Amino acid sequence: MRLYVGSDHAGFALKEHVRAHLEEQGHEVVDVGTHSEEPVDYPDYARQVGEAVAAGDADYGVLICGSGLGMAIAANKVNGVRAVQVTDSETARMSRLHNDANVVTLPGRSVGAEAADAIVDTFLTTAFEGGRHQRRVDKISAIERSQPS
Ligand code: RB5
Repeated sequence: MRLYVGSDHAGFALKEHVRAHLEEQGHEVVDVGTHSEEPVDYPDYARQVGEAVAAGDADYGVLICGSGLGMAIAANKVNGVRAVQVTDSETARMSRLHNDANVVTLPGRSVGAEAADAIVDTFLTTAFEGGRHQRRVDKISAIERSQPS
């Protein structure tokens, strides 16, 4: 798969780990930064990853900040992005099965490397169920379309 990853300073260390893990799994990974622990603003990275996913340049996105929350809020402002903040594999699985999530965000300050690997692996290998869930996801897209630009 072609994946975009990004983080702020608080997610930098875990992002470095997750990027290496994804590359080991054979994925093509585009790392939009950040590239150090120098303080930066998480929306700048959420926007780049979200826009790549929405444009179809990435199959999925992975975003990491301190809590995972700001990244999810910011990425979800991009039309077509369904970003979820996840701290366990079961929620990662459900976010794909029922919500067709296309961006996963992680809390770099509270999720360890092993748990993060399990979360992203589950996220990337679980297919959307479709069916009644497609109707519901379509209604999410309809909300986006109904908003004034
Ligand atoms: C940075 O201190 C922190 O606010 C950021 O990483 C993130 O957790 C925001 O949601």
